[in-house]
Amino acid sequence: MAILVTGGAGYIGSHVVLALLEQNIDVIVLDNLSHSSRKSINRIEKLIDKKIIFIEGDIRNRKCLRNLFSIHNIFAVIHLAALKSVGESIFNSLEYYNNNISGTILLLEEMRIAKILNFIFSSSATIYGADALSPYTENMTISGTTSPYSTSKLIIELFMQHLSKVEPAFTGIALRYFNPIGAHESSEIGEDSSFTSNLLPCIAQVATGKMDKLIIFGNDYNTPDGTAQRDYIHVVDLAKGHIRILNNLPKIKGYKAYNLGSGKCFSVLEIIKIFEKISGKKIPYEFKLRRVGDLPSFWADISLAKNELNWFPKYNIKDMICDMWNWYLKNPNGFL
Ligand code: NAD
Ligand code: UFG
Repeated sequence: MAILVTGGAGYIGSHVVLALLEQNIDVIVLDNLSHSSRKSINRIEKLIDKKIIFIEGDIRNRKCLRNLFSIHNIFAVIHLAALKSVGESIFNSLEYYNNNISGTILLLEEMRIAKILNFIFSSSATIYGADALSPYTENMTISGTTSPYSTSKLIIELFMQHLSKVEPAFTGIALRYFNPIGAHESSEIGEDSSFTSNLLPCIAQVATGKMDKLIIFGNDYNTPDGTAQRDYIHVVDLAKGHIRILNNLPKIKGYKAYNLGSGKCFSVLEIIKIFEKISGKKIPYEFKLRRVGDLPSFWADISLAKNELNWFPKYNIKDMICDMWNWYLKNPNGFL
């Protein structure tokens, strides 16, 4: 029995795949490589000295899914394949709905046909919406999303809730990621800046001279220094959360959501300061208007994952930034 990881060549997916292989769990990766490189899979294979079944394909390709599920014996699907940029989704909403929502519907339909009952979904902290107060707890209402990206995640969680009601054998677990950063300690896998506009890759690009300065989106938020605050979590800690889920799967019934964050928040300016100290590089920046769709500040209550899954983040913010910087120093052009 294997686990299918959709989006397994991407930033988080590659760390999840490695964590699964480290536990001797068989893995199949499906990825269309729209936002990642095949080389991340090669690097994992080298690190762990195992072969990965990699299928280059799209979750919206029914034939590809049907074929995959008929050949392989899949116990659970960890579904990470998605477009992930909050800001970009504002301007490309239909593309986001098509890729994230239509793709997931198709995947769930084909899972049902193949009688695959366990679905672990990469959700997002952004589904708590504009009115929720931090720290976010899983029992809060999810609504008031501020971007098509977050709406796509919210809608899929609603599908999961509904499916678990009408199909009692279906287990749907939503992992609400906060802001993963960092890289594997080997610096062999990490976030490739050619595929992302997230904060840390942009800082690294400024530090390596590829960008003149960092644009900070907004310094007029109601936060201590006016810049937006996020809950950053080491990607390796996040990946381990998936292992904890698989270990606890027999105990989980129906639909269930868990926050995976650190429980602490840092502003953009604080992150820059920590980065400068670790790297010894100065990060010039300029304030611009807030980015549409962004929330000012949020962080997680992670007691549910601690208590029910025995999951505890191990790394602090300095470890995260240090690992991220080592990855960039070793791979200034990502996987190229
Ligand atoms: P990523 O872009 O690095 O990885 C996503 C992967 O999915 C890529 O390899 C891409 O090629 C693939 N993909 C996209 N659409 C596909 C499709 N239609 N068919 C097959 N493959 C497809 O992003 P990531 O940071 O690793 O994020 C993984 C998941 O976690 C996403 O669902 C994202 O929304 C979610 N998430 C990410 C963050 C974050 O800050 N990185 C936070 C919360 C949630
Ligand atoms: N930021 C800047 N300048 C940049 C990039 C980001 O000021 O060049 C700011 C953003 O405005 C935001 C903060 O840094 O205030 C973090 O932004 P990111 O783009 O790194 O991350 P987001 O919080 O927008 O979103 C990320 C993922 C989503 C995920 C969410 C969960 O991209 O997929 O975290 O919190 F859902």
